[in-house]
Amino acid sequence: MFGPPGAGKGTQASVIVEMTGKPQVSTGDMLRDALAKGTELGKEAQGYMESGLLVPDAIIIGLISERLQSPDASDGVLFDGFPRTIPQAEALARITDVEAVISIEVPDDDIIDRIVGRRMDPETGEIYHISFKPPPSEISHRLIQRKDDTEETVRQRLSSYHEQTRPLGEWYQELGLLIAVDGAGPIEEVSKSVANAISIL
Ligand code: AP5
Repeated sequence: MFGPPGAGKGTQASVIVEMTGKPQVSTGDMLRDALAKGTELGKEAQGYMESGLLVPDAIIIGLISERLQSPDASDGVLFDGFPRTIPQAEALARITDVEAVISIEVPDDDIIDRIVGRRMDPETGEIYHISFKPPPSEISHRLIQRKDDTEETVRQRLSSYHEQTRPLGEWYQELGLLIAVDGAGPIEEVSKSVANAISIL
């Protein structure tokens, strides 16, 4: 899954997981988990994440290499938010083949509203939005907002995306692996486009 912050990668990943049975490997979730557990890696990543900067490639590549050793990864995985730089993609190509890159395309103008209104359920991992996917009222007391979901940090994340990640989209396009999906419509419509893209692979 490829796309700017807040494009809907996490939201749409569930469609692909359901269709393919492959586990979702989200570097953002792995880093947040390391941070919550207070590991060295989490402490190292924290400053970058909270300022909206990309975590250094060496840390991410180490994390992914270790994750791919797990038995559940032996039949392939769905990467969410990885790779994000050309060195990360080159490292991945040395480990395994990439079958397809689903790029969720959303204009920058929509991103800030999506991210600032995002809420997460820490019990189930479900992603909600205060306007676009309102949570059921009985769970609203336990929802959390990510620390990096402020308007200021989102602007930095968008700028990191345009400088360091977008060129990778062009790289995958030249390799014939990129499938662009219009991510600007309602969640259900984007899910249909993602399902279509997966079904023709
Ligand atoms: P990460 O957790 O990967 O964040 P991100 O890429 O910024 O992506 P998000 O999780 O913010 O958005 P999403 O596309 O999953 O959108 P979602 O489905 O939640 O990374 C966080 C940080 O970790 C990075 O900044 C970096 O520091 C570090 N990091 C992670 N991976 C790294 C890597 N490989 N290399 C280096 N550093 C790395 O949707 C967003 C909101 O919009 C939700 O509220 C949702 O309900 C709503 N929504 C979704 N779709 C729609 C729709 N169609 N219409 C309306 N609302 C919608």
